[in-house]
Amino acid sequence: MAFQVNRLGECFAAEIVGIDLAQPLSDGEFAAVRDAWFEAGVVVFRDQRLSPARQVGFSRRFGEPIVHVMSQFLLPGHPEILLISNRKHPDGTPMGFEDAGRYWHSDVSYDERPALGSHLYAVEIPPEGGDTLFADMRHALRTLPDDLRRRIDGRRARHSYTRNWRRNETVEGGRPAVSAQQRDRLRDISHPMVRRNEDTGEEALFVNPGFTFAVEDMDDDGSDALLSALFEHSTREPFLYTHAWRPRDLLCWDNRTVMHRATIYDTAHTRHMHRTTIAGGRPVQAA
Ligand code: SIN
Repeated sequence: MAFQVNRLGECFAAEIVGIDLAQPLSDGEFAAVRDAWFEAGVVVFRDQRLSPARQVGFSRRFGEPIVHVMSQFLLPGHPEILLISNRKHPDGTPMGFEDAGRYWHSDVSYDERPALGSHLYAVEIPPEGGDTLFADMRHALRTLPDDLRRRIDGRRARHSYTRNWRRNETVEGGRPAVSAQQRDRLRDISHPMVRRNEDTGEEALFVNPGFTFAVEDMDDDGSDALLSALFEHSTREPFLYTHAWRPRDLLCWDNRTVMHRATIYDTAHTRHMHRTTIAGGRPVQAA
């Protein structure tokens, strides 16, 4: 299958045209797709007819899928698929995360081995809203003022899932409690603030407002001020891509390179997505 990679506007993200992911990719095609994805950070494949098994199979070629800790939101029969959805079960309980990722984050950065990448497939989308925004953390690092760069070089920051969950419970309400068993899998973790992408060799800022809560070996005020300055810098317009969804888009992002955030929509309409998340290695400190 010959394919083309088209940049989406002026920014980093790209569209891959000429690939039907319902068909098996040869090793050569797969390697070319992987290189295009990692180079862009975010790629979209339009108009794909992807069964859950096909999506899992495609994601698995990049690495082991992560089974999300919130087991009640996994697709029955396909635990590798996390439902991001406002559909309800017949008894009124939510099928998936309705408000997933409404804050800037890098998937699973709260784990010892954060997600390498995520693949999100649009089964049903609302007529407007529900876009996904991306920030290029390589560009954020390259353009960081020198004084900020000096303050993060060689440093580590702490990430947590449960702190964020508690904040969302308070702000938005309605989220199910994290069970004791789920909490057991969720320990706070420390990662380098600048990481090297082991596939491309590129460096990127690796902190996010969703899960990063403290800079190590710094007092609370200093840490809060530094993180706020980094978040403000990273989420400025020139570093951003807004993905306006079409049905049957498969959107792939590299969590080592970008962070993302979902936007609101009118929940009178359905937004139903299948997400596979690929395990990565331990973040490597940039030299
Ligand atoms: C996510 O954070 O994976 C959800 C993104 C989205 O729903 O747009």
